[in-house]
Amino acid sequence: MTSFTFGNEEALGLDEADPLSALRDRFTIPLNSDGSEEAYFAGNSLGLMPKDTPAAMLGALSDWGNKGVRGHFEGDESWYRYDEVVSALQADFVGAQQSEVGIMGSLTTNLHLLMASFYRPSKGRRKILLEPHAFPSDRYAAAAQVAWHGGDPEIDLIEIEAKNPDNVTLQDVVSTLEKYGEEVALALIGGLNYYTGQYHDLSSWLQQFRKYEITVGLDLAHAVGNVPIDLHKLEADFAAWCTYKYLNGGPGSISGYFVHEKHHRDVDLVRLAGWWGNNPDTRFDMHGQERFVPRQSADGWKVSNPALFSMVPLKTSLEMFREVGFDALRERSIRLTQYLEKGIQTIDGIKSITPENPERRGCQISVRVNGDAAALEKKLILDGVVPDARDPDVVRFAPVPMYSSFSDIARAIQKIKKLVS
Ligand SMILES: Cc1ncc(COP(=O)(O)O)c(C=O)c1O
Repeated sequence: MTSFTFGNEEALGLDEADPLSALRDRFTIPLNSDGSEEAYFAGNSLGLMPKDTPAAMLGALSDWGNKGVRGHFEGDESWYRYDEVVSALQADFVGAQQSEVGIMGSLTTNLHLLMASFYRPSKGRRKILLEPHAFPSDRYAAAAQVAWHGGDPEIDLIEIEAKNPDNVTLQDVVSTLEKYGEEVALALIGGLNYYTGQYHDLSSWLQQFRKYEITVGLDLAHAVGNVPIDLHKLEADFAAWCTYKYLNGGPGSISGYFVHEKHHRDVDLVRLAGWWGNNPDTRFDMHGQERFVPRQSADGWKVSNPALFSMVPLKTSLEMFREVGFDALRERSIRLTQYLEKGIQTIDGIKSITPENPERRGCQISVRVNGDAAALEKKLILDGVVPDARDPDVVRFAPVPMYSSFSDIARAIQKIKKLVS
């Protein structure tokens, strides 16, 4: 095993040896008050801005200014079906066919829209199953769905019963299903848990859910652009993700979603429909056509015309991913995260709760600290290291392969060591 010193020279050497280190120059890195670049580890919360984004935004603004409403149909980048162009760029990230993915709205809203179709409780089967440490917004949305269907969230919202909630095992899933499987209508699972950084063994979990005929929805906010995903093969029924974390789409940027092709032609599925889900050829047929004609693809779940100024930064960023290639980024990500993990292991008084196996995690390491995580986060930020704390005692560090460096990690390790001791 290589032993590291986490000194500046060592880290610089590692940076210089990796050709992908140059990608950092294509991002705007926030600065400390002394003008130095932050060691930014919060890309799991908000990804940084590619330097190509402002020019792309100015281009879109000028199109709006110069063309007005004609912009919907004129020019190479006309807006009428622009969402489909941008969406197609993300299909590979999630292992989906192009017809299975779309972009619209925002993540929690999309989970609601998709649950409107896929959470269909019946008399004996009403429960929604979440993972331990489910993201609060997912919990609120699932509880609201239960209540909306006349159920009681206290009874019908349940969690996988895990021996250790920081590390959920397949056995936990199996034994929870033995107890409740026949009563579960929907499993809504955060594919890569935001708190622990655990990338769940979705292939094995979904096999279990299928045994009980449970519909499966995935929240992939922390997975997309971070770890390989194979949604079509997994046969997840639906999924949604935000694009402002690892996809660098900008604060609150438009969300991505997936509906498996096996559902595209199911006319019996209830949809909270809107004109953007209708066949585009008859979308403007305001008087002749009273009936909604859903598109026979994930596009059939769209509702409203999408925000251009949210799609433009996402397109810029997805094109960059395509240029670099996800496999190369993932390989770099694994090396960066292992370096971080080894550094954490040298510090007494803190401990990673994220799985050690790279296949079971993305770039994030969640560190449990003795004491107040928010206080440590604050001190680190003053020292130019930007992590992301979660109550009560976890600080998350995500070295993002597009822009984080070995030098950032060495700096973080040095500062944490100083502060914790
Ligand atoms: C795992 C997860 N789910 C849901 C959300 C909520 O996202 P939105 O505000 O875009 O609905 C977030 C936001 O960070 C998240 O991390």
